[in-house]
Amino acid sequence: MTGRPYVLLSCAMSIDGYIDDATAERLLLSNDTDLDRIDAVRAACDAIMVGAATVRRDDPRLLVRSEQRQAERVARGLPPSPAKVTVTASGDLDPTARFFTVGDGPKLVYCPTGVVEKTREQVGAVATVVDAGDPVTPHAVLADLAGRGVGRLMVEGGGTVHCQFLTAGVADELHLVVAPFFVGDRRAPRFVGDGRFPWHPGRRARVVEVRQIGDVVLTRYALSDRCPG
Ligand SMILES: NC(=O)c1ccc[n+]([C@@H]2O[C@H](COP(=O)([O-])OP(=O)(O)OC[C@H]3O[C@@H](n4cnc5c(N)ncnc54)[C@H](OP(=O)(O)O)[C@@H]3O)[C@@H](O)[C@H]2O)c1
Repeated sequence: MTGRPYVLLSCAMSIDGYIDDATAERLLLSNDTDLDRIDAVRAACDAIMVGAATVRRDDPRLLVRSEQRQAERVARGLPPSPAKVTVTASGDLDPTARFFTVGDGPKLVYCPTGVVEKTREQVGAVATVVDAGDPVTPHAVLADLAGRGVGRLMVEGGGTVHCQFLTAGVADELHLVVAPFFVGDRRAPRFVGDGRFPWHPGRRARVVEVRQIGDVVLTRYALSDRCPG
């Protein structure tokens, strides 16, 4: 699939591989310095994607926070923040979620053909709902995003979405942050579930950077030849 956007996956997890806990509260895994690093990564992308479960559970803003980075984007002829992208099979999205209400940039919702009508009823007034076929695949989403001029996509989770991009072999780079504590609760979500991943004991991914950022550690993995370094 030539011409698809460059895909950068970003995830923070506990030492034991959990990306959240099982409580109703949002679990903070990164620290302030790392969140600023993530802000810079966001600012360098054309679109940011999260799964619908993350929209519902975390209610993220998905904006570039730094005013300087926003201004630099605008000076380059770009909107202050990247476009926001989500995917849903249920169409259960709340139009008052911050994904839709915060920021002036485009909001894209990909869904299977069968729920396009329902999804448009839910969020059609605040987002562009795209019929992505059935089932929705990362390839279909990437092809559509490429057609909308997205050259660089940041996928911020959750685990279901990360797992699909990894197993589909369409991830170019992974930023994995490990926070210095355990969650220790199997009811909590993990980074990825089961799947046939292109990287296994016989085909190891390439580490391009390891960096301590305060009390967390970032490892950057190259997952394709498109990843520099
Ligand atoms: N630590 C981190 O870096 C980080 C980052 C982000 C999120 N999280 C955490 O991750 C958890 C959520 O992860 P998750 O794995 O449960 O969910 P998720 O990946 O955020 O979203 C999964 C949902 O996305 C939709 N979806 C995914 N693939 C689809 C496809 N191919 N076709 C149609 N719809 C599709 C479905 O939505 P519907 O249910 O609407 O059908 C599915 O239930 C939360 O606890 C959140 O806090 C952690």
